[in-house]
Amino acid sequence: MVVCLRNQGDLVGMININDIVRGSYQKGVLGYAVFLPYARQGYMAAGIALAVHYAFECLDLNRVEADIQPDNEASLKLVRRLGFRKEGFSPGFIKIAGLWRDHERWAITRDMELPAVPKE
Ligand SMILES: CC(C)(COP(=O)(O)OP(=O)(O)OC[C@H]1O[C@@H](n2cnc3c(N)ncnc32)[C@H](O)[C@@H]1OP(=O)(O)O)[C@@H](O)C(=O)NCCC(=O)NCCS
Repeated sequence: MVVCLRNQGDLVGMININDIVRGSYQKGVLGYAVFLPYARQGYMAAGIALAVHYAFECLDLNRVEADIQPDNEASLKLVRRLGFRKEGFSPGFIKIAGLWRDHERWAITRDMELPAVPKE
């Protein structure tokens, strides 16, 4: 998905819902990035809030996860603010730039308080 500004139509970032598993899991894993000129303006928080609602209401998922490196302060702030909970820590979880990197495991489930849908 792309995150875009409603009025101007500018593309400000992207969001993927990866690794969707159906059946007993009904889960997906978020990937996201802001485009640099639009960073730190709250647009990704708004976009991910919409993506979480889309995942639960349109894709019928029960769980949306985000795997985040412990030093990724911006991403950790983002999911914490949106109401995700930290569920664990996986050493050497994902290979990035040739190295197996540790990740914190965050998730939000349908029964939790969901982030407010942005009006603008
Ligand atoms: C993670 C990312 C999408 C956040 O985008 P953003 O535009 O900063 O998002 P928001 O404006 O909604 O703000 C997120 C929060 O992090 C803070 N933040 C943003 N950049 C930061 C930085 N470099 N250092 C510390 N805090 C930062 C913001 O102030 C905000 O905090 P607040 O909730 O207290 O106001 C962006 O940093 C990014 O694209 N990073 C590279 C890709 C990436 O790491 N993706 C996630 C992989 S898990």
